[in-house]
Parts: sequence; C-alpha cells; structure tokens
Amino acid sequence: MGEREKCVRMGLVSLGVAAVAWSFTAQHQISAAGQTTDAARDQVRQQMFTAATAADPEAPPPRLSSVQSPTEALAAYDNKTNGFTTQAAFDANKETFEEVEQIADGLGPTYNAQSCRECHQNVVTGGASQVTEQRTGHLIGGRFFDSQGGSLIASRATHPDATELVAIGDTVRTFRISTNLLGAGFVEAVSNTTLTAVRDAQPAFMRGLAITVPVLEQPGRTRIGRFGWKSQHGSLQSFAADAYLNEMGITNPLLPTENSISGKDVSQYDTVKDPEDDGEDVLKFADFMRALKAPSRGALTAAVRSGEQVFNGIGCGTCHTPTLVTAAPGTVINGGALTVTAALGNKVIHPYSDYLLHDIGTSDGIPIQPTDEFVPTASRMRTAPLWGLRIRNRLMHDGLTFTREEAILRHGGQAAGVTSRYRVLSSTDKANLVAFLNSL
Ligand code: HEC
Ligand code: HEC
Repeated sequence: MGEREKCVRMGLVSLGVAAVAWSFTAQHQISAAGQTTDAARDQVRQQMFTAATAADPEAPPPRLSSVQSPTEALAAYDNKTNGFTTQAAFDANKETFEEVEQIADGLGPTYNAQSCRECHQNVVTGGASQVTEQRTGHLIGGRFFDSQGGSLIASRATHPDATELVAIGDTVRTFRISTNLLGAGFVEAVSNTTLTAVRDAQPAFMRGLAITVPVLEQPGRTRIGRFGWKSQHGSLQSFAADAYLNEMGITNPLLPTENSISGKDVSQYDTVKDPEDDGEDVLKFADFMRALKAPSRGALTAAVRSGEQVFNGIGCGTCHTPTLVTAAPGTVINGGALTVTAALGNKVIHPYSDYLLHDIGTSDGIPIQPTDEFVPTASRMRTAPLWGLRIRNRLMHDGLTFTREEAILRHGGQAAGVTSRYRVLSSTDKANLVAFLNSL
C-alpha cells in the first residue's frame, strides 16, 4: 500500500466510516472518457459524504420547565455576539476566522483564498461577498461526474505547477457565489422536524426536497442539510472543516486528506504534516458562526409593507419561508454533537428560506456528490435565504444576475406559476415588491 493510499485509509478509519464499496461502474465510465483519476481519494470523499442512516427528528424535549414563548433573534451588523459565546470569545474566534493563512500553516497546495474573511465579509465579518468559485464536471449518459479531483476547482496554488486547470471535456460549469453566514447559528438550531413540517405543508408541485447529509463530527449520524447552495451540510462544524480543506487547503481531523491537483498527487508541494489543523480552528470557526447575530432589516416604509403582502400573496413565501422558530433550549442536535443553548433556542428568525432544494430551472446540474443518493440534487438548488439581501448586488448561485427583477424572472420550474403571477402585477406592486426585497 503506497503512502498516499495508507493516508487515505487512515482518514477513513479515524472517521469510523464503514468499508468503501468500490464503484466499478463509475471508475469504468471515467476511464472510458480517457482520464485517469485518483479513484481511491474520490471513493473516500464520496463515502464520507454518504448519509447511511436517517436523520434524528430533533423534536424539542417534551417537558422543559424553561420553555417560554419564542422571542425574536438578535439581528444587527455590529460585530457583537448573540450570546452563544461571551464577547471576548467572539472576538477571539473572529480573529481566527480572519487569520491570513500561510504555507507554513498548511495553506494549499491548491486553495481559493487565505482566510475565511476574504469571502465572508460585508458589511461585517461573516457577511456574504462577491467572491465566486468554480465548479465543473461532465456528463456521461446524462449522469454528472466530477472533474478529476472533485468538482470544486481551486483558483490559486502555492506553486505555479500546482494550478488546477479545467479540462476541455468538463462542459458542466458554474460559478457559486459566497453566501451570508450571519444568523447561521439560529439556522443550525432549527430542528429537522421543523424543516420537514415546512416541506409537508407545501403544495405537491412546489414541494421542496429535504436532503439528509452526514454530520462529519458524529460519524454515522445524519441531519437534514441546510447550509450551502445545495444544503450540502447540516452542521456548522462540518461546513467549517469542509471549507478549511476545500477553500484554504488546510487538512483537519474531520477531513485529514489533502486535495489533489486536478487528480494529480500533491505531496511534493505539501510540506506540512496532516492534519494541518488539530481541530481547534474548525471549532473556533463554528463557534464564531454560531454567535453571529442575524442580518437586520432596513427601514419598514409603507412601500415595504405593501411589497411584503405582494410577496406572500403571489406565493414567493411558499419557498422563501418568512419565519422559522428554532428548537427549544436543551434540544440535542447534530446527531448528538451539540445541545441548543438559551441564546439560540426558542428564537424567531426571518430567513425567507425553507432551506429545502427546489427545481426552478436555474440549477447548475451538479449534485452534492456524484453518487446515486444525491442524483436528485443535480437539478435543484436551495431556496436562497433572502435575509441580508439589501447588502447584495450579485444574485443567484452564479452571481450572474444584476437586478432583483431579473432574479425573479429567472425563476421557472416549480416557481413558474408564481413568476406568471409576478408578470401580471401592476407596476406599483412590482416596485413595492422590490422595495420589500431591498429592506431584507
Ligand atoms: C474562496 C472563498 C471562500 C472562502 C475562503 C471561504 N468560503 Fe465559505 N463559502 C464560500 C462559497 C462560494 C459558499 C457557497 C458554496 C456552495 O454552497 O457551493 C460558502 C458557503 C459557506 C457556508 C454555508 C453558508 C450558507 O449559506 O448556508 C459556511 C458555513 C461557510 N462558507 C463557512 C466558511 C468558513 C468557516 C470558512 C473558513 C474556513 C470559509 N467559509 C471560507 C466561499 C468561501
Ligand atoms: C419554488 C420555490 C421558489 C419560489 C416560489 C420563489 N423562489 Fe426565489 N429562489 C428559489 C431558489 C431555489 C433560489 C436559488 C436559485 C439559484 O440560485 O439558482 C431563489 C433565489 C431567489 C433570489 C436570489 C437571492 C440571492 O441570494 O441571490 C431572489 C431575489 C428571489 N429568489 C426572490 C423571489 C421572489 C421575489 C419570489 C416571488 C416572485 C420567489 N423568489 C419565488 C426558490 C423559489
């Protein structure tokens, strides 16, 4: 067993994942396309991201003396904790989130940026930004396969020869823009049952897909996904581990294997021993995001209030769910890894998302993983949460839509009926609707 392979196997064991079932068909099809691939690495990644078990309901515990009626979640762009951690811990975790990583820290060999903040800052650390990243792959028999080394194409490298280039045959291509993290802790504190109840109340032709994903920090346990353009993660610690590896090239205990250079071995450029982070930074990122207040609203003018009625009246709110309530304090979530605290529990949030996946005809065609279980995610995108919209001017997953009106008009598929109702609105109603969007 080569060094590389051993390392891959060890990663597998430390995650407690069951033995990998070799997917002969996938390997065969990829080589039929004339490519060689570090198939073992792909297998491990796909296996790690496989949801083998059902998600817990995470319903609130039945008799909790501290349960009061839900209160509004704190919302502001003010760099202040929501109470999940002390302000001192928030400031310290923020510093880690803003830290500019160097090669000696494990940066790269392939990466997209040196700091979480490079892509998550507007108007404060943790906000969204205009930074996009590339994802590519190809179709064989109508089925999506990743580019060699994975669908995420890193756009920077620590050495010129470590640059990832897109293969000409990888004709499925997209940008994905950086999303907002403000309020993420509240979203994590929404129970699985709450999301499936929203789904069940949607009319059949508009019903969202709740996708079950693994909780990396609780091997074998799963959750309803809610984070990322495909709801590809359910826990912030899992997303942080994933981002640290895939955006910055920093391996960590949850994802201990370095990414390849478009499928080619990186070891000659990889000088720091894996895992490059001992897990501390990943926890700090997660706790920083959990302590972020929600995005706050702009002025609530008469036009905004009328626009809100239009929004709900024509059915935008069926997917862009205006209000969710987080689970009660004491609820155990993330497959047992986290207990909802008083700062995040029993809070009313207004994310304008159901966090479910929908086919509105805009999808990038890329599934969460190129495996059977995630095939339905290729044609669907997560309902984009609209909180924080007032600080964004590049819209939709690819960031290629410039105005609110054009964003609405891109909605087809499950949103086609709603879009038709939008088209026949009076110009006043249309203007009020945009005023409402601009207040979020
Ligand atoms: C190069 C830019 C970039 C960097 C650096 C980056 N991110 Fe992101 N982040 C993104 C993009 C793009 C998305 C959406 C990706 C997707 O869904 O495919 C995202 C999504 C997220 C989400 C999901 C939020 C939601 O909308 O549900 C979390 C959580 C997150 N990032 C955390 C982090 C953390 C923690 C770090 C640092 C370890 C980090 N990111 C570094 C670009 C970046
Ligand atoms: C069937 C579900 C559904 C309905 C109905 C719906 N949307 Fe969306 N909306 C989505 C999805 C999914 C996305 C993300 C699509 C993408 O990025 O490819 C989205 C994205 C958006 C965005 C872009 C947000 C961003 O962060 O870039 C805006 C704005 C928006 N919707 C507004 C509306 C309005 C206004 C209506 C009513 C006229 C509406 N939507 C109806 C599902 C829906």
